[in-house]
Amino acid sequence: MRRPVTLPDHARPATLALDAGLSIPPDTRTIQPDLAMSVNTMVTPGEGAFSAAGLGDIADEPFTYARWSNPTVRALEQRMAALERAEEAVAFASGMAAISGMLLALLKAGDHLIVSDVTYAGAAELARGLLPDFGIEVTPVNLSVPGALAAALRPNTRLVHCESPCNPILRLTDLAQVARVAHAHGALVSVDSTLATPVATRPLTLGVDLVVHSLTKFINGHGDALGGIVLGSKALTARIRGRAGVYLGASLSASNAWLILRGIDTLFARLRQISDSAGRIAAFLEAHPAVERVIYPGLASHPQHALAQRQMDLPGGMIAFRTADPQAMARRLAARLRIAHYAFSLGHQRSIVTLLDTDGMIGGTYRLEGAALADYRRFAGAGVFRLSVGLEDAADLIADLDQALSA
Ligand SMILES: Cc1ncc(COP(=O)(O)O)c(C=O)c1O
Repeated sequence: MRRPVTLPDHARPATLALDAGLSIPPDTRTIQPDLAMSVNTMVTPGEGAFSAAGLGDIADEPFTYARWSNPTVRALEQRMAALERAEEAVAFASGMAAISGMLLALLKAGDHLIVSDVTYAGAAELARGLLPDFGIEVTPVNLSVPGALAAALRPNTRLVHCESPCNPILRLTDLAQVARVAHAHGALVSVDSTLATPVATRPLTLGVDLVVHSLTKFINGHGDALGGIVLGSKALTARIRGRAGVYLGASLSASNAWLILRGIDTLFARLRQISDSAGRIAAFLEAHPAVERVIYPGLASHPQHALAQRQMDLPGGMIAFRTADPQAMARRLAARLRIAHYAFSLGHQRSIVTLLDTDGMIGGTYRLEGAALADYRRFAGAGVFRLSVGLEDAADLIADLDQALSA
């Protein structure tokens, strides 16, 4: 039998990031997590099941088949559950697999979903484009507007899905307040906390029912593995594992789980350094003549700075900024940056910047109108540059951005 590492009750999050879910194999007594590639294990006749209905408590299930459980993936689920203070977790092949698996496991035809009107583009398009094809009613709502959620709730509202900070405009959601309003109405609340990470925010402790992460971003942190996870109660995650793991099958690979576990070892150290650099870079950008506006939860100028201070232990590594003629500036940054990379994705060890053009986001993805469109433009103008700060020296990044931004 493997011997689980038993941590003292007072172990703090940075310690949990290294050791929660770790177990020592008695034969080799190795300290680092093993990579168990096997898709199946030996079973005794009658043991295990091939039906979602036959899955018991995952904590007691044998590793019968890797689509619903594998030792390395399980170690990742346990470590993430410790960091998010969750009863259970279920890992997926990507962040989008986690979001779609959660939504398709919880919602059915005739249910109503309220979704933040600005989320990661894939989630926005899934909610607006695909779910209605399955008979699910979907209402995008700006969850940062007081009263907007209460006004949108319907008798059949089953789930309110938010994102905080939201990608790309870094608008925040008051998670405790959303949970209070939704619960009073009998609806569940899920949040995509990819940009916050458990280093900054633990949404389950604020009353949220389910937390989703793209593990591809800060949590793995090295730009070399896709992954996703949903965390919450045993009952909700069991339903998601059964339906999404057994039926939809977008399960995380053991090799990616191993890479992500290795990334989590340094999550706290990376996030603290990245957040510190991001604070310095945000202040530099705010003073730069080529920059019209900076949106960063750590700046006093962020419209929800007080909420950021209350809800986030650190402001994180994502900065949004605006310049005049964003298309021309995008070409200039792509041609001139020598340290930061002009590329998609975020949360890696190397800094990444890209333009999210407002017309493109509104037309293809968000389809906002009226007050919602005005609010998006209030943050994003004609477009925001999304800067994901990495682990390079902050002074080098500032010099690089300075030479690239300056005419
Ligand atoms: C906030 C957020 N959620 C979810 C996703 C989707 O994650 P993945 O690319 O791992 O599917 C992303 C990807 O950029 C994201 O930024």
